[in-house]
Amino acid sequence: MNVNSWLNSAPVDHLDAELIVANALQKDRTFLHAYPEYEFTDAELKQVKSHTMRRALGEPLAYILGYKEFYGRIFKVNQDTLIPRPETEALINVIKELKPHRVLDVGTGSGCIAITTALELPGIEVDAVDISLKALIMAKQNATNLGANVNFYQSNLLEKIEDEYDLIVANLPYVDREWDWTSPELAYEPQTALYAEDGGLALIKQLIEQAPAHLRKYGYLILEADLSQHKKIANYASNLFDQINSNDQTLALSLCLR
Ligand SMILES: C[S@@+](CC[C@H](N)C(=O)[O-])C[C@H]1O[C@@H](n2cnc3c(N)ncnc32)[C@H](O)[C@@H]1O
Repeated sequence: MNVNSWLNSAPVDHLDAELIVANALQKDRTFLHAYPEYEFTDAELKQVKSHTMRRALGEPLAYILGYKEFYGRIFKVNQDTLIPRPETEALINVIKELKPHRVLDVGTGSGCIAITTALELPGIEVDAVDISLKALIMAKQNATNLGANVNFYQSNLLEKIEDEYDLIVANLPYVDREWDWTSPELAYEPQTALYAEDGGLALIKQLIEQAPAHLRKYGYLILEADLSQHKKIANYASNLFDQINSNDQTLALSLCLR
């Protein structure tokens, strides 16, 4: 079997099929276009078939390949970590505009936000927490692979945090189990990384209450939430934060300057 005939018959999306083949051959996708007549070895074909079957059954490609790109860098992922989403890159843009000196990432997962922040803003101090030890192990591995200096801690939200920051960022679980538009692929991801009670807002509300004690004057809390939740979050935070900006998937709250 050669690359071209496999790609023309694979029972999955064409781009996914190409990424699965490129991964099995340890080449990038340009190789497939340059050498469509390449004949698979038995071992390569076995891996391609098995990965394609998993994808056809609905497993996210990132778990099959073991990585996901985020802000131009490759992050290792497994079923202990949420797969980084492109919309989360918007948080990085907000952080870069604010130019903080000391950042805390709450619910770091694969470490994508903390590590990207440390690499995009060299010289700043970045800490990160997650309740999941297994996620923290993967985040540490990613920080080492990418050469980022981030301090990781296990903590339930800010329970174990004693320090102050000028920016706290969090992409906490905010999916409401009642939403009917969620994808079947979510079943493969850690449920504690996705779902929260109280219409998806339980953890975000707790963090809004905890954050002011750990933010310096003029400090920011940057949250990701679904657009449909922004108004409720802004109302909830209005007693504690005085400047609340919401754009796209990113809800930025700035601490009261009183
Ligand atoms: C939506 S995922 C985000 C992962 C990563 N920051 C990203 O953007 O891809 C939420 C993360 O929050 C963590 N988490 C859930 N509840 C938590 C809690 N009470 N305290 C700290 N982290 C929590 C989960 O383990 C998961 O890694």
